[in-house]
Amino acid sequence: MTQLLLLAREALEQMPAETRLRPEDTQVILQHKDVLLSWSRELLQTFFDTLFAHPPTRRIFREGERPDRETTFLAWWERTVEGPLDEEYFAWMAKVGLAHVVRGVESPMMLAMASFVASFVDKQAQSLSLPGAEALAGAFYRLSTTLGAVITHAYVRYRTLALHRVAGMEPPLLERLIVAEAEGILESIRKE
Ligand code: HEM
Repeated sequence: MTQLLLLAREALEQMPAETRLRPEDTQVILQHKDVLLSWSRELLQTFFDTLFAHPPTRRIFREGERPDRETTFLAWWERTVEGPLDEEYFAWMAKVGLAHVVRGVESPMMLAMASFVASFVDKQAQSLSLPGAEALAGAFYRLSTTLGAVITHAYVRYRTLALHRVAGMEPPLLERLIVAEAEGILESIRKE
């Protein structure tokens, strides 16, 4: 098993089953494939307008980069809607998460925009009174939670791995030292 697949599985296993994307959610998404794909242009527009209107997220992008980002985001959207949303997909998401880390995209930005996608689908489905709107919105909220879990888990694990390389300490030892330090910090905060 590749490291990314292992990381994705670790994250999925930590989530109570009813909170993560469920097999019936993947069916609901697939059943709405055509209507979801018909929203692609509007999703792209609002997603990137939101990122470009907010200085901290705008700063992440290079001059003239938006068309490329729209292309990669569209490929993600199509793969998400068409499935399969299996472990390979979440392993890919762990990799996509790391590609963002390297560019300085912070976890709050990723989590916020995963939630943005879910809420976009919810609003669209409701405004069109789409049959099955509630199930579709539920499926996208669980998908965005699962994406956030996989991406942030991969980020934390790779950060520890990077520290291990820099400091030459084994990851479990490093984790224990970090927890011990965090305990000390928490104790002093509690005394404030
Ligand atoms: C739901 C949230 C998001 C999804 C699904 C998503 C999707 C993607 C995908 C599929 C790629 C291509 C990765 C690769 O080539 O391996 C990508 C790249 C990128 N995304 Fe996102 N993205 C999200 C959020 C964001 C946010 C919040 C920002 C900035 C604030 C951002 C900025 C970028 C940048 C700069 C790249 C290029 C990375 C590189 O240089 O390789 N993305 N995104």
